[in-house]
Amino acid sequence: MRVLVTGGAGFIGSHLTQALLANGHEVAVVDNLSSGRVERVPAGVWFRRIDIAQEALDQLFADFSPQIIFHLAAQVDVAVSVQDPVRDAYTNILGSLNVLRCCEKYRAQRLIYSSSAAVYGEPVQLPVDEDHACRPRSPYGVSKYCFEVYLAASTLPHIILRYANVYGPGQELSRETGVITTFVRRAAAGQRLLVHGDGSQRRDFVYVADVVAANLRAMQVTENAVLNICTGVSTSLHEVLNILRDLVPEGIAVEYGPPRLGDIKDSVLCRKRAAAWLGWYPQVDLAQGLATTFAHIAARGS
Ligand SMILES: NC(=O)c1ccc[n+]([C@@H]2O[C@H](COP(=O)([O-])OP(=O)(O)OC[C@H]3O[C@@H](n4cnc5c(N)ncnc54)[C@H](O)[C@@H]3O)[C@@H](O)[C@H]2O)c1
Repeated sequence: MRVLVTGGAGFIGSHLTQALLANGHEVAVVDNLSSGRVERVPAGVWFRRIDIAQEALDQLFADFSPQIIFHLAAQVDVAVSVQDPVRDAYTNILGSLNVLRCCEKYRAQRLIYSSSAAVYGEPVQLPVDEDHACRPRSPYGVSKYCFEVYLAASTLPHIILRYANVYGPGQELSRETGVITTFVRRAAAGQRLLVHGDGSQRRDFVYVADVVAANLRAMQVTENAVLNICTGVSTSLHEVLNILRDLVPEGIAVEYGPPRLGDIKDSVLCRKRAAAWLGWYPQVDLAQGLATTFAHIAARGS
């Protein structure tokens, strides 16, 4: 199929692009390289450096006529969204609407949207399933949810994938979403790790290859759906640190600081619906995923 990946030079998008190529699809990537890197776009891909909020996107749709669109391009930093909600909304709402407009104008078959567990806000009950109320607490959560609502109100066939905390090789440093990457990079460099809070906070960490597998399976689904993409396993930062201790024989130095304002204490998502709709189950547990990420970072320094 002809497949467009927005944000394909980014962390998850570049893994997805490689998998799509390996599966024999014709792939185009649009990315403004605000955080993505062009060298992550593999040979054989149509690459256009385009801001998704700009008119130029129209020409890409006219030239390439994508059938399926994986929409990943986003402002992904929660802290940036708090400091500058207009910048966040520019890409995550206006840019996304421009993608939706082009999909409708050029009669794309389906859009698969990378959304986030940030749409739920503070969980009322755990694990959080897809029927949980959406009360996002950050402008990032609001903008990701806002586009979900636009999609639901559109006639475009779509799948919404709400990711838990994604990690793996290729994630940029100092991202709000990248606590694992931050820990692994600092541990590999022999630097002190900073834990915000007492380390008892729990998260659902899902490995990037599993997220890619869920996206590929979503290509086969013909009805609209909202699906959590997660492990359903709740892991504390203490547990993450213990796995890292096994990986670094020289030991790791850990420092505890005050909790960050607005951080959710515990979060774990329910993956039953993704299992039922996609026949998808995460294959990589945290110990394996951390070991692979650590080996990658230690070998390449990035
Ligand atoms: N990483 C996670 O833990 C996580 C969790 C939940 C949801 N998500 C979602 O997954 C998607 C991908 O996230 P990621 O972690 O790979 O982030 P990323 O920052 O690595 O990738 C985003 C890409 O979008 C590009 N981009 C940003 N603004 C753009 C614009 N206006 N026009 C064109 N391109 C633009 C960036 O250059 C980058 O390559 C995002 O939609 C994000 O909201 C990620």
